[in-house]
Amino acid sequence: MERFSNISLKPYNTFSIDTIAREMYSFSEEKDLIELLEMHPKQPVLILGGGSNLLFTKPVDQLVLKNEIKGTQVIEEDEESVIVKVGAGENWHQFVSWAVEQGFGGIENMALIPGTVGAAPMQNIGAYGVELKDTFVELEAIQLDNQHVHRFDHKKCHFGYRYSIFKGPLKGEYCITRVVFKLKKNNKLNTSYGAILTELQKRDLVHPTIRDIYETVIDIRKSKLPDPQKIGNGGSFFKNPIVDIATLTKIKQDYPKIPHYPMDLDRVKIPAGWLIEQKGWKGYRRDDIGVYPQHALVLVNWGNGSGAAIWKLAQEIQSSVADTFGIELEPEVNIL
Ligand code: EPU
Repeated sequence: MERFSNISLKPYNTFSIDTIAREMYSFSEEKDLIELLEMHPKQPVLILGGGSNLLFTKPVDQLVLKNEIKGTQVIEEDEESVIVKVGAGENWHQFVSWAVEQGFGGIENMALIPGTVGAAPMQNIGAYGVELKDTFVELEAIQLDNQHVHRFDHKKCHFGYRYSIFKGPLKGEYCITRVVFKLKKNNKLNTSYGAILTELQKRDLVHPTIRDIYETVIDIRKSKLPDPQKIGNGGSFFKNPIVDIATLTKIKQDYPKIPHYPMDLDRVKIPAGWLIEQKGWKGYRRDDIGVYPQHALVLVNWGNGSGAAIWKLAQEIQSSVADTFGIELEPEVNIL
């Protein structure tokens, strides 16, 4: 393990916010995490993964523990599938690339999502018609206040849209250390998402492979989402709101073309990017912060923007969408 004091967290969050942490340790084994927790009893802790879903709005007083537990291990295999156990500190995209390389399918639609494997189940990451929960088997996590090791199977995680129990009742109580996935050797490819279908047709790919989907997703994401290595951002800033049919019908009177996707009989999901774009925010810039010109759901730090300024802009966007559409946008990123 390594200790850092009064360290800038700029390299550790994809928004590139230059905030200071009083004390930070990195750890690469469960036993080190347990030791660190024992050394700092009752101290509030912030577990840091890839820092891709966080917005720092002030200096960090909590003890920061940077999860660097690595390792990708096939623990079971048969003709159809493999069970893989992955260290929470592994980079998510590298894990996806490894799976594609091996010919293991199920997560190729989630290529290029920033962040670590351990952060992925927290908010049940998803993209292009696939969610983490579709290949998830179980995870191991250490309870911060007593250092007990627990296993959470699918049911115990309570996955929902960009949600798990670790974002709800158990928020801040556990550190996820390992995640187990079931990947398929001959998986049914998910090409149903409009953008993927269009792109595959453009490339004349009638019988796409896992790698074709992986490469298509990478190209689509690169074309409309900013690369956090170059422009600070946390992916989608807000969740796509789910509203009842009555709300949709009311909005349709003024906006007959509003896009929406059915959730169940009474509710639809509306793309938050569309709502934000209607209010004229797409491409908006104030000093070093703004809304990405190619995607209205992504707030960006063009250089030296502060987290507080981004959060202020986010709240202005929330109010303007609420005033016109009566819809409260909920942040997808964690505001700290
Ligand atoms: N749209 C606009 N203007 C914009 C952006 C989007 O009108 O500037 C509308 C369009 O109608 C478009 C629709 O929004 O068809 C959907 O856009 P997109 O396919 O980009 O998806 P999204 O709903 O904005 C979600 C996830 C993304 C994920 C994509 C693809 C959430 C909050 N976001 O975005 O995830 O990559 O679908 O599956 O669910 C993330 O979580 O950080 C993330 C990037």
